[in-house]
Amino acid sequence: MYVSPQVDNGYDIADYYQIDPMFGTIKDFDMLLEEAHSRGLKIVMDLVVNHTSDQHEWFQQSRLSTDNKYRDYYIWKKGKNNQEPTNWESIFSGSAWEYDELTDMYYLHLYSSKQPDLNWDNVDMRNDIYKMMKFWLDKGIDGFRMDVINKISKAEYVDVLPQTSHYMRCSKYTSNGPRIHEFLQEMNKKVISQYDAMTVGEITACSIEQAIQYTSDYTHELNMLFQFEHNDVDSGQYGKWTPIPLDLVKLKRITEKWQIGLMHEGWNSLFWDNHDQPRIVSRFGNTSTPQYWKDSAKMLAATLHMMKGTPYIYQGEELGMTNYPFQDLEDCVDVEVFNNYKMLVLEKKVLTHEQMMKGICYSSRDNARTPMQWDNSIYAGFSKTTPWMNVNPNYHDINALSQMNNNDSIYSFYQKLIQLRHEYDVIVYGDFELLEKEYPHLFIYRRYDDKNEILVISNFTNQELIYEFNYENYEILLSNDKPVISKTFCIKAYGTYILKRKS
Ligand code: NOJ
Repeated sequence: MYVSPQVDNGYDIADYYQIDPMFGTIKDFDMLLEEAHSRGLKIVMDLVVNHTSDQHEWFQQSRLSTDNKYRDYYIWKKGKNNQEPTNWESIFSGSAWEYDELTDMYYLHLYSSKQPDLNWDNVDMRNDIYKMMKFWLDKGIDGFRMDVINKISKAEYVDVLPQTSHYMRCSKYTSNGPRIHEFLQEMNKKVISQYDAMTVGEITACSIEQAIQYTSDYTHELNMLFQFEHNDVDSGQYGKWTPIPLDLVKLKRITEKWQIGLMHEGWNSLFWDNHDQPRIVSRFGNTSTPQYWKDSAKMLAATLHMMKGTPYIYQGEELGMTNYPFQDLEDCVDVEVFNNYKMLVLEKKVLTHEQMMKGICYSSRDNARTPMQWDNSIYAGFSKTTPWMNVNPNYHDINALSQMNNNDSIYSFYQKLIQLRHEYDVIVYGDFELLEKEYPHLFIYRRYDDKNEILVISNFTNQELIYEFNYENYEILLSNDKPVISKTFCIKAYGTYILKRKS
């Protein structure tokens, strides 16, 4: 919500100190903070400091000449044999370098060409960022969600070998670089540690060892991280644009790796959805019938919320909001969609329009960005005038108002999950063990400490299944089913069962 030309939905910031006029004023922000705090709510701001907008004053200055005071705030390189300095590809496709005639040099942009990367090796730049962070923390905000924070330290500027025939991903040289821990520790020492503030880092591509380094208490870097390994589980040949069916065994393996990996040191964030992911119920759930929709949304919620880590709920997820039925490119707004369409359909011609539209419907970030569905009035109660994106046509059936006072709703189910986490320490602190690892239909795990054990059983299929275990020893804490327990424990399609071992 900072001032931004909105090339990448606000992740291209032109002024870190102001609220974009389309959202309001800094006074409105102060009021929001005060009102939130008076209700016991906290507000965490996005911190986007790997890059700025090309409209930011620093970049405008930086472009002008090689001896400008701000030149070194960004990453400028000379071309190589009349070409880009390296063959790196931007995350939004196309070269990661943009040529600028003014000084006959290229600048690096890991995202859109309108998002030049900041040069964290420059100490003045770092101090300016810290000053800005203090400005917001002094206002009383409660922490930062740090955008692609492990990309702020770059390693070498050398060519990469193609990893697949169509991508020149350079994360090897641009993620978890040699000075990353030094930068985060400096930020912590100079800024974060002076306040009562939480931090969560968006960390793409990192190992368990690195994650522990980022989030352990003793390293003083971050409180927790978002990692994305599970989000790639259904990516195909051209990444998320050509999705493949969910392989539950693979998803379980990745989950186990992170649950066990950060079990005693470091801290996980738990999430299915965010503003960069399609809607989970349309992805790993089933929206083909109202019953499947409701049951699978609850099942996915329970599977995630009983794990170890801090759960995040993305707006609308608690209502089971679904993907949007995109008909054409005109329905989309995301720069990532347009750039990838250009590359895969128009330039490389590896996908047809229809294939790409299918990928967009399944995976595009726009699925998560349609207006929040508050009620069934015009524009779902999001606004009284035409909103910036189409409202999902299913808002008459899926909206907050219709679920809030309904004990059987997805919304109520989320409330019960949150309640359970408050009630049982074992859900917060207990150890994790994955059961039936190779079984492709059920996700089963237990959480345990010296005294308690919680067993979670979730059915990811539309088939009724039997699971044999000593169910007499357990009581049900929460489920989307009322199982009839006779000689066997019958698990309904998309059923989920949170059980506690009887003491
Ligand atoms: C990650 C953000 O979540 C995403 O929305 C954005 O496009 C990139 N970082 C670039 O800031």
